[in-house]
Amino acid sequence: MDFKNKNVVITGGTTGIGLATAKAFINAGANVYITGRNASNLEKATAAINNPNLFTVVSDTSKLEDISILEKAVAESGKKLDVLFLNAGIATFEPIAEVTEANFDAQFNTNVKGHFFTLQKLLPYLADGAAVVVTSSTVATAANSGASVYSATKGALNKIAQIAANELAGRKIRVNIVSPGPVLTPGLETAVPAEAKDFLAGATALQRLGDPNEIAKTVLFLASDDASFITGTEIVADGGYLNYALK
Ligand SMILES: NC(=O)c1ccc[n+]([C@@H]2O[C@H](COP(=O)([O-])OP(=O)(O)OC[C@H]3O[C@@H](n4cnc5c(N)ncnc54)[C@H](OP(=O)(O)O)[C@@H]3O)[C@@H](O)[C@H]2O)c1
Repeated sequence: MDFKNKNVVITGGTTGIGLATAKAFINAGANVYITGRNASNLEKATAAINNPNLFTVVSDTSKLEDISILEKAVAESGKKLDVLFLNAGIATFEPIAEVTEANFDAQFNTNVKGHFFTLQKLLPYLADGAAVVVTSSTVATAANSGASVYSATKGALNKIAQIAANELAGRKIRVNIVSPGPVLTPGLETAVPAEAKDFLAGATALQRLGDPNEIAKTVLFLASDDASFITGTEIVADGGYLNYALK
């Protein structure tokens, strides 16, 4: 897939799905800006990708003032964005009885509010015909115990993406959702205990966890001209996780 000289912003590009997608866009010829909460993870990502077309911005998407830092970096680049991949995300799993206000706010501020205002602030910098992709999750459809807040954030994000697709269609900007099932990333390893990884792999039709590169390929497809008639919808890349649960 060719993204030569295209300009891409990826929030949460330091590890996991975001890093794999940054690599894929770089390999396809794009200039890629990645964000993360701290310089150290961004330096590791820079070393891993090792390409002059990668740029980094320290920006915590849960904070409006940090979204402004990203906006300033984009403005100063003088470039219009061809792709915006809203991917940063955090998850904690606990029963409703144990959810704290701090955990609730952290997940909503990152997974919903952060994406909403990043999209809003970067709207003037999106090229007409640009593609926006958001990382949701199968949890938006499933109703797993312990995932109330995380699932609610992804459900909210899906609705924002669907409405953005309608609002931005006049500028020929497409907005789509990628919903991974269980994918082996540092985020998954932090969010669930080691034994849960086997359980999650066994809960997919393909009987394995996904690889971040498999999600990256889906994102590049949605961002490409090959997806020119696709907007306001979701691609579920989950190894059959949701379907298998219905067996
Ligand atoms: N792995 C899965 O099984 C799975 C399944 C469905 C959906 N997802 C979704 O996929 C996305 C990526 O997750 P992942 O699995 O790749 O996890 P990951 O390896 O933990 O990656 C998360 C990324 O988000 C960044 N991030 C987190 N909070 C941030 C904030 N406030 N501001 C800016 N960046 C922030 C992290 O950067 P720093 O830590 O450097 O700040 C990191 O680059 C998330 O939206 C997640 O909900 C994952």
